[in-house]
Amino acid sequence: MIKKVAILANGGDVAGFNAVIRAIMRSAQTHGIECYGYIDGYKGLVENNYIRLDGNPIASGIIAKGGSIIGSSTNTIVFHYKVEHEDGSVTYEDLSDLCVKNVKEAGFDCVFTLGGDSTQKSARDLYLKGINVIGVPKTIDNDVACTEITFGYNTAVSVATDALDRLHTTAETHHRIMVLEVMGRFAGWIALESAISGGADVVLIPEIPFDLTKAAESIRKRQARGKNFSVVVVSEGAVSKNGESENFKAEGVDSKSGINVKFGGIGVKVAKELQELTGLEARCTVLGYMQRGGTPTAYDRVLSTKYGAKAMEYAMEEKFGILTVIKDGKLSSVPLEEVIGNNKEIGAVQGGTDTSNVRLVTMDNELIKTARNIGICLGD
Ligand code: F6P
Repeated sequence: MIKKVAILANGGDVAGFNAVIRAIMRSAQTHGIECYGYIDGYKGLVENNYIRLDGNPIASGIIAKGGSIIGSSTNTIVFHYKVEHEDGSVTYEDLSDLCVKNVKEAGFDCVFTLGGDSTQKSARDLYLKGINVIGVPKTIDNDVACTEITFGYNTAVSVATDALDRLHTTAETHHRIMVLEVMGRFAGWIALESAISGGADVVLIPEIPFDLTKAAESIRKRQARGKNFSVVVVSEGAVSKNGESENFKAEGVDSKSGINVKFGGIGVKVAKELQELTGLEARCTVLGYMQRGGTPTAYDRVLSTKYGAKAMEYAMEEKFGILTVIKDGKLSSVPLEEVIGNNKEIGAVQGGTDTSNVRLVTMDNELIKTARNIGICLGD
């Protein structure tokens, strides 16, 4: 029988983090299990910094609250941990053994790892080193392998849809092209779904390298039908067909490491080029962190609660080394081994790399077909 569990929230925040934390904590309470939270994700694991959650006022009334009550850390890899020394020098060290020791000494029977592909890669590595882990798939990008949906995604799409509704009216009023740059480093889920729900005319996603002359052509066709405005959605990770062209590369992309790389800037470039190609004035809005912050949608609250409660069920069954997923619309689990794909080596290389198993939009996906059927231009 498990007696004591800990939650670790890691990576970029999403709406729904707290709803998952709450669901795990409440399920633990139902079964008389103590529930703790590591502070600031993997950083808390290294620093042995955790707090009791059940019965703690900070864990009360959190289902609608954005962010994470126990924090989160990005780009924190316990196998390649940045250590700052007193003399000002910096080294990167493998502190995974320290993490294992910390978890064992604290007596946690299970650590729930809430995060995306990098977080789950670390979870798998730590599992092989002896920590009982259960992953819960998080990210607004919706690109975690082996699951149909991650928590936080629905809220991000909803925020992008709201932005598109607002951009539509200003586009129409001023006869402009309005470009909305949304998140999505490797996968175009947010762009594609919000383009459909927000009635966009063009959508550019990382999976389909784009040719802006095609986008311009579709905008001109609209002009010919008397529509002197257009709305364009661009994923931050979208690339031009002519991949070498610096014009359309998001700043600082490093497809090999994927780590510490900042995306962004593609929207401005697309707007400038479309203005030149169509003669219509174009403006760009970068939605950025609005997609991650704030209140989760009702859908995300329910999904997060389902994920958290199921993860706790798996813990009570002592089924570890897995990711809680949605498969064929139902809660299920897959071994983390499957989730990490070919990125097998334990250590510094985490998610977002060439060997990672991110879930991309495939060309036979019904969203692609739907978009094409209703005349949305995909830039190809
Ligand atoms: O992975 C989720 C995500 O929102 C990406 O879409 C985005 O590129 C990234 O996080 C930005 O993260 P940060 O600036 O917090 O490192």
